[in-house]
Amino acid sequence: MGTQESNEETSGAGRRALLGAAVLGAGGAVLGMAGTARADGARHGGGGFKSLPKPTIIGHRGASGYRPEHTFGSYQLALDLGADIVEAGDLVPTKDGHLVCRHEPEIGGTTDVADHPEFADRKTTKLLDGVSTTGWFTEDFTLAELKTLRAVERIPANRPHNTLYNGRWEIPTFDEVLRWQDEQTRKRGKQVWIYPELKHPTYFRKQGLPLEERVARLLRTYRKDRRSSPVILQSFEPTSIQRLHKIVDNPLVVLLSSAGSRPWDFVETGDPRTVADLVKPAGLREIASYAQGIGPTLDLVVPRDAQGRLTTPTTLVADAHRVGLVLHPYTMRNENPFLPADFRKGTDADAYGDVFGAYKAYFATGIDGVFTDQPDTGLLAREDFKG
Ligand code: G3P
Ligand code: CA
Repeated sequence: MGTQESNEETSGAGRRALLGAAVLGAGGAVLGMAGTARADGARHGGGGFKSLPKPTIIGHRGASGYRPEHTFGSYQLALDLGADIVEAGDLVPTKDGHLVCRHEPEIGGTTDVADHPEFADRKTTKLLDGVSTTGWFTEDFTLAELKTLRAVERIPANRPHNTLYNGRWEIPTFDEVLRWQDEQTRKRGKQVWIYPELKHPTYFRKQGLPLEERVARLLRTYRKDRRSSPVILQSFEPTSIQRLHKIVDNPLVVLLSSAGSRPWDFVETGDPRTVADLVKPAGLREIASYAQGIGPTLDLVVPRDAQGRLTTPTTLVADAHRVGLVLHPYTMRNENPFLPADFRKGTDADAYGDVFGAYKAYFATGIDGVFTDQPDTGLLAREDFKG
């Protein structure tokens, strides 16, 4: 294991050397680092992602079932609840080249930007991966401007209590996340893991704001770009993961949306394959040549029928495992509307259903982990599963 990792890190260093400081231009100068964080990032590398408990409980956007997503309030609570990894964050860029944590570039639903008259004229309509989208976009704001905003609950109809925290937290930067990870690791005496996702890489590259090089640069700064580093990277665009494979050694995960969908990079490059093709043995074999895992929708693992009830599991878990890929499906949420129909209790949109029953069905398939908005529920379900 040690020898293998040494070799991987050596080859990674060679690749990393190809990435000059010029990649980020002036933006790179602001990506400062703390010496202590660098030392700790290296020291706590640990045994790699395969040493994580299984099924791994991944705090989706933090503990977003209880706090506005992608805030330090949400990330902190995920750790306090015991999540094995925190999805900190979904990464999008600012106009001046910083990486910030938002689920989407459009921030009208997750911040108070609409209440800021000074930004009223930034509201616009853009084509985002082929979808007409109206609102405010991170790439039209400097980091200093974004820092004047505050996060709000995205789905108040499902999570009315979370609105208590509207206005409490800023938008985190990825740089802050990497330092927070080291601080929390020191405080807790236990390695904290993060699972950032690169959002819309093709969309941003076309605007001169490529994500992969920025992520790699920051990971290198904190010495978290190695196979054993406590950072798993994910993206819905396979070519983005292939690009990352060339410049960092972190564990990489290809996210897979619904079977009929086509990754946006495939649309742009004319690759006709859909997710249905990628989950076939040949598609999985190809993914395994540059990634360590897949993050499919739960429906790709256990499809639902026309009524939304669970049906028979597919062969995806066995097929992926056969080529050495781990599976971290998304997303388990406690509230009725997000559960399979056979696990809902009543019809209230903010009420919890029989989520433990749903976990039992999903864990029985052999998945290696799961993204969840309520990590404490996931951990209890894992206890049930392990007996
Ligand atoms: O990253 C796993 C899952 O988060 C993918 O879906 O849309 O929540 O980023 P999304
Ligand atoms: Ca995500």
